[in-house]
Amino acid sequence: MLSENDIKERLSSVIYPGFEKDIVTFGFVKRIEIKGEKVFVDIEIVSANPDIAKEVEANAKAALDALRVQSQVLVRQPKAPEQKSNTQSGKNIASHIKNFVMISSGKGGVGKSTTTVNLALALSSQGKKVGILDADIYGPNIPRMLGVVGQKPEVIGEKLKPIKVYGVEMMSMGVLMGEGQSLIWRGAMIMKAIEQLLRDVLWSDLDILFIDMPPGTGDAQLTLAQSVPVTCGVCVTTPQTVALDDALRSLDMFKKLHIPIAGIVENMSGFICPDNGKEYDIFGKGTTEPLAEAYDTDILAQIPIEPSIREGGDEGKPIVLNAQGAVSAQRYQKGAALLWEKIERVNKDGAADNSEIQPVSGKSGCSH
Ligand SMILES: Nc1ncnc2c1ncn2[C@@H]1O[C@H](COP(=O)(O)OP(=O)(O)O)[C@@H](O)[C@H]1O
Ligand SMILES: [Mg+2]
Repeated sequence: MLSENDIKERLSSVIYPGFEKDIVTFGFVKRIEIKGEKVFVDIEIVSANPDIAKEVEANAKAALDALRVQSQVLVRQPKAPEQKSNTQSGKNIASHIKNFVMISSGKGGVGKSTTTVNLALALSSQGKKVGILDADIYGPNIPRMLGVVGQKPEVIGEKLKPIKVYGVEMMSMGVLMGEGQSLIWRGAMIMKAIEQLLRDVLWSDLDILFIDMPPGTGDAQLTLAQSVPVTCGVCVTTPQTVALDDALRSLDMFKKLHIPIAGIVENMSGFICPDNGKEYDIFGKGTTEPLAEAYDTDILAQIPIEPSIREGGDEGKPIVLNAQGAVSAQRYQKGAALLWEKIERVNKDGAADNSEIQPVSGKSGCSH
């Protein structure tokens, strides 16, 4: 006798086209029913592309054929997105927020949170209403970087007020989990957590919500793209090749999720020596340029290794506010302005084609 679990196990071999994970892990299998000799399976995917639906259906059927059962597989998919919707589902569970920017990296430790915080504060200093959603469930360190570790959000009814700090709104899994507490996250939990952080937090009418994603290209990214129309994505990487491979995956993911790519932040690009203020090339500056070209995007900023960036992070005093004259503070400001131009362009044209905007080039004019 076949059980539901046998069916599920078979379906776990069906990889969602374009991704590394299978349809069961993604939570796309909505119903499995065994009626006598026949198996009924309902699958709900997030892509409106009919070819993907066909591929999933064929692969699911083939997987079930191996069990020698009669099967009926139904694949449901969202309608093709309307003109202005950038995501496949067109759903928006936080529709009062004007723009969502997904900050991603293939790998941890490349400076994703540092970039998020400094770009966010830079745009806020430029007069925008800014929020930061720390969705990095594996390492939610935005509270530390903003100096609000341990601060509890106010509860209003069943909702949470975001924490206000340095003129921006912030909510983090770290705030909800408590410091040092770690949880084992499964796909479904990640999806639920991200949806809650969007839906159950009283964000004001923000111009832009920055979302610090967990590293990688999996469930969280997909959930976010399903929940809100992500305006654009920013990829953070370091110039080392290992990190670059990861950067490629993260840019690929944006493409697959139909998220316009605003650009790349090349972090730890060169080193500013605190003794003489000179800039030195350590890991190879400018190595992300070919990547930007290949994906038809730009480098938003090249941020050097600057010890005061790390100190600012540890002490909750981001460099953009705390050392406005620092080289990296100025580059964050420029990068933020460029990012905003790209956002406006996406909203106007529906694509991040920025041929008229002057991006930061690899030749940043630094002496060494
Ligand atoms: N450009 C930089 N110069 C100096 N230290 C940096 C720089 N970027 C990030 N760091 C430090 O590197 C560590 C990892 O950065 P973080 O932003 O937490 O990475 P991620 O979010 O990608 O895991 C932090 O201690 C941070 O302060
Ligand atoms: Mg981080």
